[in-house]
Formats: sequence, structure tokens, C-alpha cells
Amino acid sequence: MNASAENGKRLSAESALKLVEPGSVIGVGTGSTVRWFIEALGRERGLIEGAVSSSEQSTALLRQHGIAVLDLNAVGPLELYVDGADECNLQRHLIKGGGAALTREKIIAAASARFVCVIDGSKRVDVLGRFPLPVEVIPMARSHVARALLDLGGQPVWRDGVVTDNGNWILDAHGLAITDPVALEARINQIVGVVTVGLFAARPADIVICDGERILA
Ligand code: 5RP
Repeated sequence: MNASAENGKRLSAESALKLVEPGSVIGVGTGSTVRWFIEALGRERGLIEGAVSSSEQSTALLRQHGIAVLDLNAVGPLELYVDGADECNLQRHLIKGGGAALTREKIIAAASARFVCVIDGSKRVDVLGRFPLPVEVIPMARSHVARALLDLGGQPVWRDGVVTDNGNWILDAHGLAITDPVALEARINQIVGVVTVGLFAARPADIVICDGERILA
């Protein structure tokens, strides 16, 4: 990771902090950009009532910073969700799941009124798919789903050794030029054995902050 990309992540995370309502419960994503966001939240002790976390990794970080981690079922719909992405197009469609947390991330995005995506400039693309598309699968369905992804023109690679927080496995589909993200998300969701596809298109981000600047909304 070069220094300017890391700086872009930090600036975006710190800028997202300005959108947080004091006293609220917010959704918190996963990854190195979100790590900056959690650190910033930690410096503003008492700013939020608590957070719904998208991964065991973020749960541990939130607790280290003295932030209460709450159950989505107990707190209901959220006003705000802040998370990173692996790629983002002009329509605010995203590829996510580089950190294998895509399922809980998609649940929190669905349950949130506003999804703020925080990225650095290297994540912006015209067409999604240069970053391999993560797909979380039930372990016994790995080969079945891999064959279906091949039929769709992808080259699936098993992220060997990675087990998600939900006890599942990840296939990364290389070589897809995703010209219709909404249609491909729906198509992959229909493959039996798929838990979640890392395309966030049917529910895109509402706001994108890139290198600290709000660029798409
Ligand atoms: C984790 C994710 C992350 O948001 C995505 O991988 C971006 O991570 P980073 O901020 O480290 O670049 O989807 O599942």
C-alpha cells in the first residue's frame, strides 16, 4: 500500500465522521479504511451510543476503542452505515468483500437509510471487475458455484484457507467485465449455494467520499 492511498483512506474516513449524528447508533464496515474511521470515532469518545459491526475484526477494534457493539435485531433500522469498497463506479455500484465480510456488510447496508462509502482514488473505475468479484458460498457448494461462475465468463479462484465469520468459503471470480452490475448481482444470487455476491448494485452507496472529498451522491 503506497502512502498516498493510505492517506486518501484516512481523509475519507475522517470526512465521514462529520456525517455522524451525536447519540446515534451507526453501522460500521470492515477493512483498512474503516479502521481509520473507528480510530476517529474512538477519539470522539461518547459521540455515538454504539455501533452495529459487520465483522469480528471490526467488533474487536470497536471494543478496543471503547465503543459499544450492538445487535442489529435489537436496534432496528439504522440511519447511517460507513464502509469501504474494493471498486466503485460512477453509479455508486460497488465491489466489496476483499476482507471476506461481504454478507454482514450487505445486511447492514440493506438495513440503513444512508450508506456512505469511503475510498481512496485507486478504487474508482468506469467498469467494475478488474478487482476479482468475491462470492461467499456454502462450503459443500463450492465446485457447483465455481462451474456456474465459469458459465458466466468468470475464472473462479477459491480463497483457500479463508473461512468467513459465518463459517463459509469465498470464491473470487476473475476476468468479469461487469457492464450491468444490477443484472449480474441478481443472476449470481440465484445460483444455489451462493450466500452473498460482493456486488452492491441493487442497493448502491448513497454517498461516496474519495480522498476526503464527497464525489458522488
Ligand atoms: C471487506 C470490504 C472492504 O470494505 C473492502 O475490502 C475495502 O477494504 P480496504 O478499506 O481495506 O481497502 O468489503 O469485506
